[in-house]
Amino acid sequence: MNKINKIILNSPLDMHLHLRDEKMLELVAPLSAKYFSGALIMPNLVPPITAKKTLLAYKTRIQNTTKNAFTPFMTLFFQNYSQEFLESIKEDILAIKMYPAGITTNSENGVNLLDLKSLAPTLKLMTELGIVLCVHGESSGFVMDREKEFLPIYESLALAYPNLTIIMEHITTKEACELSQKYDNLYASITLHHLLFTLDDLAGGFLKPHLFCKPILKTHEDKEALLSLALEANPKVMFGSDSAPHPKDKKEACGCAAGVFTAPLALQALCSLFSKHKKEQNLNKFLSLNARSIYNLNKTNFINKNITLIKKNFLVPKSYDLGSEKVVPLFAGEELDFSIEEISTL
Ligand code: DOR
Ligand code: ZN
Repeated sequence: MNKINKIILNSPLDMHLHLRDEKMLELVAPLSAKYFSGALIMPNLVPPITAKKTLLAYKTRIQNTTKNAFTPFMTLFFQNYSQEFLESIKEDILAIKMYPAGITTNSENGVNLLDLKSLAPTLKLMTELGIVLCVHGESSGFVMDREKEFLPIYESLALAYPNLTIIMEHITTKEACELSQKYDNLYASITLHHLLFTLDDLAGGFLKPHLFCKPILKTHEDKEALLSLALEANPKVMFGSDSAPHPKDKKEACGCAAGVFTAPLALQALCSLFSKHKKEQNLNKFLSLNARSIYNLNKTNFINKNITLIKKNFLVPKSYDLGSEKVVPLFAGEELDFSIEEISTL
């Protein structure tokens, strides 16, 4: 078979993205907007997005920064909300994101896992109103076991709310891969970094702070399980980069912030990965079609774009300037073997 040297992506969607705010937003939002048609925007700002006014103002700031070339799908930070409030905001959001309290960056106002019963009224309303639930599924146990320990909570949610669409965000383990197949209403997003790296890459030699994220990178076996779902574009999974930029001095610090900044190179690296495994034909499903069917989106819901990538080296910038600070992407200063050739807005 001839080698495929050109890949055309139809409206890639990033279904898990951190854009932050202020000067970080101004730096990173255009980088996603250039290559993606739209993205699911995480609400873990400080303070988190819990009100309609702040959600709409944040959406406007994103649209202003991205010059309307990109569709931000907004999310609310999970807490108990009234029926009246959810009805009023339903059309402005695509999902509500649930974080266990304190489990990751800016999640201090998240839910108490010991008191899941108190979440029932809001989950019931979300089911009735057709609002998707996205979950950061980690317990507060030993760092390598946190996702596995959370799986029974996913199961009980899936069983208790069979008509609620539940997204297991950024899954990292073989067991989570298996669970995604078990219940009709459970789906999952998968990041680039969890498809490429294990704990060994992060901490097996010199410590690599730019690979430190939550959930933490796992084992080779886990990575292989994620890869087989992604490369086959299993319909229960979709791409969510979890691109999570932090200033360089917050990453290269003795208290390193969790997050891998991948937005400017995610498509190039995914083409390279799918090409290496001769699965290029599945990339549009993983990057767009699966998300459309999971979230019930159609072409009128986002800006349509074709992104053409070719087999040509792309040198990832060593860093991006953020005023007097810098932000370091994954693969900083390294070459990837696919580059963006053309972007056409349809
Ligand atoms: O590594 C991570 N960074 N994981 C998360 O869940 C949050 C994110 C962030 O906001 O920095
Ligand atoms: Zn995230």
